[in-house]
Amino acid sequence: MIAPSILSADFAHLASEANAVEGSDWLHVDVMDGHFVPNLTLGLPVVESLIKATDIPLDCHLMIDNPGRWAPSYAEAGAYNVTIHAEATDDPVAVARDIRAAGGKAGLSVKPNTPIEPYLEILRDFDTLLVMSVEPGFGGQSFIPSVLEKARIVRRLVDSGELRLVVEIDGGINSNTIEQAAEAGIDCFVAGSAVYNTADPGAAVRTLRRQAASVWAP
Ligand code: DX5
Ligand code: ZN
Repeated sequence: MIAPSILSADFAHLASEANAVEGSDWLHVDVMDGHFVPNLTLGLPVVESLIKATDIPLDCHLMIDNPGRWAPSYAEAGAYNVTIHAEATDDPVAVARDIRAAGGKAGLSVKPNTPIEPYLEILRDFDTLLVMSVEPGFGGQSFIPSVLEKARIVRRLVDSGELRLVVEIDGGINSNTIEQAAEAGIDCFVAGSAVYNTADPGAAVRTLRRQAASVWAP
């Protein structure tokens, strides 16, 4: 799956920017609060409008403190997947339960330096694991390949049937990096600048999908 990130899109034209990547699996929406990460982006009102403007399922990546307070509202609004950060809450399982009760899929994200081992047990309460391959906060940063070890660990647990979840990666994904991520067992690729900082975002999505697919089914 390919999930273009609108962080690199034109925020004054979000509806047409979403339409430009029609056929994408998910549309990745980065919610930043200026506290959990140094950057500030958008919140629930914009997500509500975006849901009305596109048929692409929204993948909301909440880089915010106190996610328990806000995450369920995104699911209630109709976001398909709502991902919170493991580092932002003491009780990620309770938040996942609330997201699911509000009708959404629940995702857990880990920053590049956060180990995955302490979270393996609770991943059964989630639908998505989002492995950050840059420090969250900004688009256009360089891919950190060492995080792929976390993807490999979780991929093995998914393949053996111990876990059922989408393994997603976010940060620095482009034509030079997507194949190594696919080899590590990623099945959903977020890409911001590699999609929107091009003349034809739709074509960029198709190229990335072809590259990932060539690894999965050569
Ligand atoms: C960064 C965001 C990413 C960002 C990725 O904190 O979570 O979703 O849009 O941008 P690129 O693909 O340019 O690294
Ligand atoms: Zn993101």
